[in-house]
Amino acid sequence: MAITSAFLILLSLSSLSLGVPVAFDDGQYHPEYDNSIGNGNQIVQPTAVAEVTSAAAEVTSTRSRASRTSTSSVPTATATASTGGGGFTGSGGPAAYTLFRGDGTQASGWPTISQWLSFEQMFANNKPIMAASCAPAAENNSEEEITAIKQAILSESASTGVDPRFILATIMEESTGCVRVRTTTSPDGIINPGLMQDHEGTASCFGKAAPCPPETISLMIAEGTTGTNGGAGLKGTLAQAVGMGAKDATAVYVAARIYNSGSYPGGDLAASAATACYASDIANLLVGFAGATSPCKTGAAGTL
Ligand SMILES: *[C@@H]1O[C@H](CO)[C@@H](O)[C@H](O)[C@H]1NC(C)=O
Repeated sequence: MAITSAFLILLSLSSLSLGVPVAFDDGQYHPEYDNSIGNGNQIVQPTAVAEVTSAAAEVTSTRSRASRTSTSSVPTATATASTGGGGFTGSGGPAAYTLFRGDGTQASGWPTISQWLSFEQMFANNKPIMAASCAPAAENNSEEEITAIKQAILSESASTGVDPRFILATIMEESTGCVRVRTTTSPDGIINPGLMQDHEGTASCFGKAAPCPPETISLMIAEGTTGTNGGAGLKGTLAQAVGMGAKDATAVYVAARIYNSGSYPGGDLAASAATACYASDIANLLVGFAGATSPCKTGAAGTL
């Protein structure tokens, strides 16, 4: 079933204040990267991505997530005809990575919703990555656990109005879909558990024997989407983005920035972000990139 842009929640309420400082932890492993601003969008084929996770980094980083597996799980790039300068296709199999810079608008070269993949195609592209993303730190996801992720995304989307593709992209960015992903803790003590590394949620299968129960998987996705007592989920950050005047796909990229960083003053989505690559990664996942490691984070796509 095609999911139209009308399905994307665009809440008119704007009472949430962006001025309130929100403690955050991006919940991800990311090496040091150059945060300088460059020029132009760069396209990188995912096949060339090097594995950057090292054992030492995993145990020392408070923002590390479950270990990545080797690059053998990265699908071969099959970028076909470009839809116009961005290098992304908007349909079909896994696409090359395009480094998106700036404020998330179409004018800045960011993709529109019509350029996103269908949920089904996106899920199919990412499924092999989900199936291999827990090892070696934990047992890989089973087919049943992957099915539970898919069902929970669709169910949570139906109850919140948040586009299921945004939920899936966030899951891939935060945990590469590993149900046993570790709980990370920010320097100020905020925990980020589960598939969406949400703000002080309760659901996690970290350190637990497989299988991860479907109800726990559902709760992880609910806590990341609807939010928790401690912080906004995607629904809340979308409302904040819309409150700032962001529309359509741009609202999603801004919401992703807020979900990652807790705040957004406007302008460059990478500027003073917890993870500079975050919004670009989300946009890439939505238009077809599928890989265990972000070429933006490794620097293979250039620097933001
Ligand atoms: C996890 O999945 C990957 C890819 O299928 C496989 O190479 C690896 O052996 C698996 N690891 C475990 C512990 O099952």
